[in-house]
Amino acid sequence: MPQWIPACATDDVDPEDVIPFEHAGESYAVYRSPDDVYYATAGHCSHERELLCDGLVMGGVIECPKHNGRFDYTSGKAMGAPVLVDLRTYPTKVEGGTVYIELA
Ligand code: FES
Repeated sequence: MPQWIPACATDDVDPEDVIPFEHAGESYAVYRSPDDVYYATAGHCSHERELLCDGLVMGGVIECPKHNGRFDYTSGKAMGAPVLVDLRTYPTKVEGGTVYIELA
């Protein structure tokens, strides 16, 4: 059954940036858009499992630090070679200054 898990404080993520979040042995990436909307994806790149939290965030896109594969972090969509498999995304919500991720 899906559960809302507290991931971080809203101020832990700068606008247009990403931070890592770990829960139950899994890695996630939490993003904050320039207009303060929060998103969450799988923490590892779908290409060779590099951690995406070390990547570059710009214009709604996360660029993997290993081979520069790019994903739309709002949808998880892979944007072309070398990344061909979309990232899993997770619903988020903000309550009382905390960002929650809905995990199954
Ligand atoms: S590991 Fe991310 S693009 Fe290759």
